[in-house]
Formats: sequence, C-alpha cells, structure tokens
Amino acid sequence: MTFKEEIKRRRTFGIISHPDAGKTTLTEKLLLFGGAIHVAGAVKSNKIKKTATSDFMEIEKQRGISVATSVMGFDYKGYKVNILDTPGHQDFAEDTYRTLTAVDSVIIVIDAAKGVESQTRKLMEVCRMRNTPVMVFVNKLDRPGRDAFEILDEIEEELKIGVRPLAWPIGNGTEFRGVYNIFEENLYLFTPNKQTLEQGIEFKDIQDSKLDDYVSPRAAATLREDIELVQGVYPAFDHEEYLKGKLAPVFFGSALNNFGVQELLHAFLQIAPSPLPSKTETREVEPDENKFSGFVFKIHANMDPNHRNRLAFVKICSGHFQRNTNYLHVRLGKQMKFSSPTAFMAEKKSIIDEAFPGDIVGIPDSGNFKIGDSISEGEVLNFKGLPSFSPELFQYIENADPMKSKQLAKGIDQLMDEGVAQLFTNQFNGRKIIGTVGALQFEVIQYRLLHEYGASCRYEPIHLYKACWIQSDDPKQLDDFKKRKTQFMAKDKHGRDVFLADSSYMLQMAQESFKNIKFHFTSEF
Ligand code: G4P
Repeated sequence: MTFKEEIKRRRTFGIISHPDAGKTTLTEKLLLFGGAIHVAGAVKSNKIKKTATSDFMEIEKQRGISVATSVMGFDYKGYKVNILDTPGHQDFAEDTYRTLTAVDSVIIVIDAAKGVESQTRKLMEVCRMRNTPVMVFVNKLDRPGRDAFEILDEIEEELKIGVRPLAWPIGNGTEFRGVYNIFEENLYLFTPNKQTLEQGIEFKDIQDSKLDDYVSPRAAATLREDIELVQGVYPAFDHEEYLKGKLAPVFFGSALNNFGVQELLHAFLQIAPSPLPSKTETREVEPDENKFSGFVFKIHANMDPNHRNRLAFVKICSGHFQRNTNYLHVRLGKQMKFSSPTAFMAEKKSIIDEAFPGDIVGIPDSGNFKIGDSISEGEVLNFKGLPSFSPELFQYIENADPMKSKQLAKGIDQLMDEGVAQLFTNQFNGRKIIGTVGALQFEVIQYRLLHEYGASCRYEPIHLYKACWIQSDDPKQLDDFKKRKTQFMAKDKHGRDVFLADSSYMLQMAQESFKNIKFHFTSEF
C-alpha cells in the first residue's frame, strides 16, 4: 500500500456524550460490528463507573485499566479505524476537551428520551471551535421516547447545527423493530442481541410487502410515510457541509440491541474525513508531507508509584513514524529515539515499528513530555489547538509538610504538565491556586502527590468565578487594569497574565470598563 493510501484509509474519531447516554455501549458495538471483538462486555467492564467523589480510590484503580481503552484501533473493510475514548466521568472534562483536538471527526451519542444534555452541549462547543465534522447517534430507541422528527428539531436547535437523517427508526419503545438505512437505501433487520452479532435479514426495497409480516403492517406503513416526508423536508445530504462541521448526519438506533450500529458504521467509513491538515504556529501541516510530525495530547501516569513512568499519547500529523529513529523534541531542542512505541488495538497493546498520520502511538516517558509538545523530523513546529480551558473551580493549595516542600513543588509541576489541573500564582500574595474543570481533580491531586511524590498538601477555599487570560494592544490600559486589579491578577504556569474574577458581575464590569482588553476563556487566542 502506498503512503497516501495508508492515510486515506484512516478514520480517527472520538465518541462523546453526556454520561449514561450509551457511549460505552456504542463503542463496544462498533468494535463488534467491525469484527474487532466477538463478545461485547470487555470495554464495558473497564469503564470508569459513576462513582461518588468519595470513592476516589476505586476510580483511580479503574483509571489504571482505562489506559487500555484510551485508543482502540481496528481494521475493517480496508479501513483503519481509530476510536479515541473520552473519559465518561463528568469530572474528567478537560481531558475530554483535549482528546477532541486529536480527532478528525466525532460521533455524538444522545439518549432519545433525554435529548440533548448539558455535557453534550459543552462538548459540541469545543467541536464548533475547531469545525470538527460531527455525526449524531440517537440511542435507546427501544425505550419509550419521543418522536424522531421532534428529536431532530431539538438537536438542530440545541447543538446549533443543521441536521440530515441518514437512518430512520421503525417504531419506537417496545415496538422498535429496526432501522432503515437512508444513506444506502437498504434495510437490515436484526434480532435484538446484547452481546454477539447475528446476520440481519436484508430488504432491498421498503415497498416489499414481506416487510409488513416482519414488522407489522402498521409499522411498515408508518415507515413508508416517514421516509417520504424525510425526503421531502430535508434537502439531499450535503457531504461538503458535513466536512465543514455545519451539518450533522443523524442516525437512530439502540446500541444495546445492535440496532442502527451497522448503518452508522458503514456511513461513517464512507463519509467521515481521513486525517486532516493540522495547524501550527507557523504553517499548516499536511498529512501526506514526507517528514514525520506529531504532538502529545494526553499523558497517562503510571499506576505503579514505584516507577514514575508515564505514557505520552502522540497523534501523528504527517509523515511516516518509525521506531528507533531520531526525532526532534521541539520544546527541549533535543533529539530523541523511541524504542518501544505502542499501538492500541481493540483488545491489546503492542510495540510497533511504524505508524501513519491519523494513528496514535503511546510513548513511554520518564518526564520529558508535557501536553502540547511537538515532535518532528527537524523542523521547529508548534501545533496549535491544545488550549487550557478556563477552570470553574478553585482552591488555594498549601504545603502540609514543611519537610517535603521540594517534593510538593516537583509533584505539582509534573501533574500540571500532565494536564490534571491548572496552577495560577496570585501576583499580590504569591499564593498558589489550583483551578479545575471538575471537583474530583482536587482529590486526584492530593492523592497522587502523596502516593507518587511523598508530599502532602491541603486546600483552602477561595471564592472565584472564573480565570481568564487577558491580552491587549493598548499597553497603557493593560497596565492600568493590572494595577487596579492587583489583588485579582495571577500568572499561569507559562507566565501569562490571568485575571481572577470573583463574580460574573465583576467580570462583566471589567469587560465594560476596559474596552481595549480582551478576556479569553481558553489559553490559546
Ligand atoms: P455511557 O458510556 O455514555 O455512560 O453509557 P453506557 O454505555 O454505560 O450506558 C448507560 C446505560 O444505558 C447502561 O445501563 C446501558 O446498558 C444502557 N444502554 C445503552 N444503550 C442502550 C440502549 O440502546 N437501550 C437501552 N434500553 N439501554 C441502553 P446500566 O444499567 O447503567 O448498565 P448495565 O448494568 O446495563 O451495564
């Protein structure tokens, strides 16, 4: 296979949802239909269960297992599919945001009865920032839910994206019989099956009167009417609009029962983009450039506290990655060779000799990498699109053991490199503030500082609403602002100015009074 063919056959994507909508179940069923696993249940048991914050130890244990499912690759019908898992737990939100920077497209799972939920809305905003092509899978049609047309309207309105159904449900709730494939104009009826895969019965034409016997005359008649209506109401599917992130093809089904999954998978392979160009500070990198480049979007800490080894996840952006070859670690300006890069296939991890754009490789690391680091064949490239997001929860972090202040500083530094949370230093009193997107991270940090670095910390409350990065072309006004707000000024770990607003009112007032200052809610602008 040529280099270009290798790139073209790759589909690297993420599945996102509000917790409980069925992301894990759909992931498993895609692996099942893709022939990567034969019995569902493996991914599921590795999932981070919805545990209360107090059950942190349990989460940590599960987090260890979840390394294996961070990336799931498989070959199917000539395609190489890479599914990037996004942590399902509400509190791992920022990790999820960052994973979205490494995908070329996204499948959003929505619970048919609950519709668009809060987390889905947030994640969609991240997709919109990058114009990521999205597909929607409306799940749990086997439960009494709402009318498909109504759901489509809600998606359009709530996610602010055009919709085009490419599959259509036959009945719903206990009457749910299957899914008509609008995209391929065919119908496969499956027997509900929670674990394994069976061959479906094919109908080439929904006018076929035999369909009435299979699904009931009423359901067949409704399907025929619905399809006529769909084709009348919605313009033909516009592939370009989908690729621009403006139009979401919508599929219906029940992942648990195997309904609608094959339809989704087949359409996905045909329409989802192969690896796209990646933006850097200086230029756009095309996947088919000869020279290798990539960036670190995730760092996974080792679960064994005696070995501080970590696994850096590298997304390959261009060129042909090879084992034991000298590459440039751009930030450190240092040549490095990787002797045991790892690829992730559905059920196993293995050392690989080569990888192509769109692939994710895991690189064992003893502390050289930070989130956002770039690697190349010599060119100084800095990939964009890995911002820090404005945290929502804040606490002062204090050393609880004066004998271990070095360990604490080192631990905090490394955990921040991993992207567990963000550290701000208040310029007024020099105190250190941890900002997170979810409450669990505070516990994660405390626990890991103790177990991995032997340092103990305690938190003290601080009342803050938001941290935002400030920037201005008007140095006088910026200076004036910083003087007036000294108590609320901080630096992030890269030394950038951050304004700590203690209420939305304060932020609004600041924005109104200082018109020449821009307040950013992500660190990349
Ligand atoms: P998540 O990763 O998005 O959090 O969701 P997950 O797949 O774990 O699914 C959440 C729950 O919804 C699970 O039930 C799962 O079995 C159920 N589910 C997923 N797809 C469907 C579907 O198509 N129809 C119906 N009726 N249920 C579905 P649970 O009780 O939390 O877990 P389990 O005991 O079934 O494993």
